[in-house]
Amino acid sequence: MGLPLCAAALLAFFVFFLTLFMHCWHFKVHEVIFANGTIEDDFLMKRNALLLELDKRRNEILPFLNSSVVERLMDESENFGLHESFEIKHLDSLENESKVSIGYFRKDQDHIGCDQLVNVKAVDVLGSGYTKIVLKVVLSEGQTVALKTVYDQGTDIGRCLEDFKDPLGCHELVSFKLKKEIALLQRLQHPNIIKLRGHCEGDVGAGGITAVLEQGCPLQMIQLLQSPWEERFRVCLGLTRLLHYLSNSPLGSVALLDFQPRQFVTVSGELKLTDLDDASLTEPVCRTDRDCVLQFPLRNFSLPCSAQGLCEGLNGMRNLYNAYRYFFTYLLPHQAPPALRHLVDHIMNATGELKGGVNDTLEAFEDVLHLYKSGLHLDRLPPSLIRDYAVMRGMSTSGNMEYRCWPSYSHRGCLLSVHGVKEAAFICNSHPQCTSFSLGKQRTWTGRLLASFRSGFSHLIPDGNSEVYMKKNKALSGTRV
Ligand SMILES: Nc1ncnc2c1ncn2[C@@H]1O[C@H](COP(=O)(O)OP(=O)(O)OP(=O)(O)O)[C@@H](O)[C@H]1O
Ligand SMILES: *[C@@H]1O[C@H](CO)[C@@H](O)[C@H](O)[C@H]1NC(C)=O
Ligand SMILES: *[C@@H]1O[C@H](CO)[C@@H](O)[C@H](O)[C@H]1NC(C)=O
Ligand SMILES: *[C@@H]1O[C@H](CO)[C@@H](O)[C@H](O)[C@H]1NC(C)=O
Ligand SMILES: *[C@@H]1O[C@H](CO)[C@@H](O)[C@H](O)[C@H]1NC(C)=O
Ligand SMILES: *[C@@H]1O[C@H](CO)[C@@H](O)[C@H](O)[C@H]1NC(C)=O
Ligand SMILES: *[C@@H]1O[C@H](CO)[C@@H](O)[C@H](O)[C@H]1NC(C)=O
Repeated sequence: MGLPLCAAALLAFFVFFLTLFMHCWHFKVHEVIFANGTIEDDFLMKRNALLLELDKRRNEILPFLNSSVVERLMDESENFGLHESFEIKHLDSLENESKVSIGYFRKDQDHIGCDQLVNVKAVDVLGSGYTKIVLKVVLSEGQTVALKTVYDQGTDIGRCLEDFKDPLGCHELVSFKLKKEIALLQRLQHPNIIKLRGHCEGDVGAGGITAVLEQGCPLQMIQLLQSPWEERFRVCLGLTRLLHYLSNSPLGSVALLDFQPRQFVTVSGELKLTDLDDASLTEPVCRTDRDCVLQFPLRNFSLPCSAQGLCEGLNGMRNLYNAYRYFFTYLLPHQAPPALRHLVDHIMNATGELKGGVNDTLEAFEDVLHLYKSGLHLDRLPPSLIRDYAVMRGMSTSGNMEYRCWPSYSHRGCLLSVHGVKEAAFICNSHPQCTSFSLGKQRTWTGRLLASFRSGFSHLIPDGNSEVYMKKNKALSGTRV
């Protein structure tokens, strides 16, 4: 109940501040024009530095925009936003670059625009970082999306204000990070990159820009550590598929410079990259091999400098080692199925030492997935295991006596994924409490079945979607059929 109010208050605060900033800024312009001496010099120096910084950010995103659009951008000599009412002659040359605004983004794949955001309800704050804040909103048609905007109370704006004391300019400067992100999200499309549903610019304050994203859940590493191996493997596989895409992307080899779990969210268990503002699209330039060193707290790696003077492959290697140190080490080895352990260890070894590239790593991951899905790793379980159980097809149980196991898909009982009856029987045999288990139609993302294990039940009830397996020597004690 408090959250919508909170989000609304936040937006109101944001608008209020922008208005306030606007006044401050106009005051400053006057101060410059009419005052003399150090205030003016200091101000001009800051202004120059800010404009140079704006120029840098603007140029940084030009390459990702559609080329015909960029030409138009270059041709235009209009003055926008920050430069309006700016009358100091010697800054004119810096005024030339026009603002990269909504019209310059492609609109083919992202269709939610400002119109659909007019009367939206902010339901929740999904997250915030140094630069951006993400709100959960419900659109008029009832669908939920995440709105990402510049965070005016964030560290990024705060630092800029300290340096330049120019709220409007700082807002525009920081907006470029979100603009870069939108441009990249339009060009980089992959199941493991958050989907851009639309964007809107201009309604809130000068340079105010909003990205409309599919809604995810911030990645909870602690929670993930407690989840079944299958789900942890899914995250690592998704990450590897993402890195493979990024290393061969339409924009070249993309490095994620700020590689932390908080740059990712999950959507129905699938990992998705959401923070793209710190991506680098070019391999580092080098003169000697010594320029191509990847430094990490615990390891350094060096690559050769190519004949073209680039550290070729460095972006991919950086991503891969980060995947190893932030994700694989925590998520992958722990509780891996015994028969897959040597393959998992090989992945750990190869990525931890950067012995293989992204392609080899992905291949190894896909092999593990294939084995896991096909149940080939269970070949050594004897088929005779099933003979210990009596099967009741078309039945489920009620009045269950549950026990807990780890890592269960359900908090209340023991719900595990299995390849089939044989693996379920093997698991039930290995749990002293287990006297029966049921298999339903529910499957995990790999297509494995969910089996529930229990120590007893009071009734069997007809259920076309389920079958019950009872351990022959224990099954009938205390059970009525
Ligand atoms: N689509 C989304 N759905 C749900 N939560 C999201 C979504 N996008 C981002 N978030 C959450 O919002 C937080 C801030 O977003 P983002 O990482 O883009 O901002 P940032 O200021 O660049 O952050 P940082 O300081 O970590 O670089 C993320 O850490 C994530 O938890
Ligand atoms: C500003 O300085 C100029 C000379 O540098 C002087 O002519 C002018 O009167 C000064 N203006 C004010 C408002 O002090
Ligand atoms: C750029 O946009 C124009 C229309 O604005 C379109 O015709 C062209 O195909 C686009 N080019 C690319 C590379 O997307
Ligand atoms: C702006 O750029 C155009 C071409 O890009 C150039 O001809 C013009 O002189 C520039 N204007 C200023 C004020 O620098
Ligand atoms: C990595 O290289 C840096 C700079 O050369 C050096 O200071 C650091 O000790 C090295 N770290 C490791 C773990 O080798
Ligand atoms: C990793 O490789 C090293 C040397 O190549 C080897 O000594 C070690 O046993 C390997 N570790 C695993 C877990 O495979
Ligand atoms: C990796 O695989 C992609 C295609 O999947 C291919 O285009 C690329 O050349 C490969 N890279 C290396 C280094 O083998």
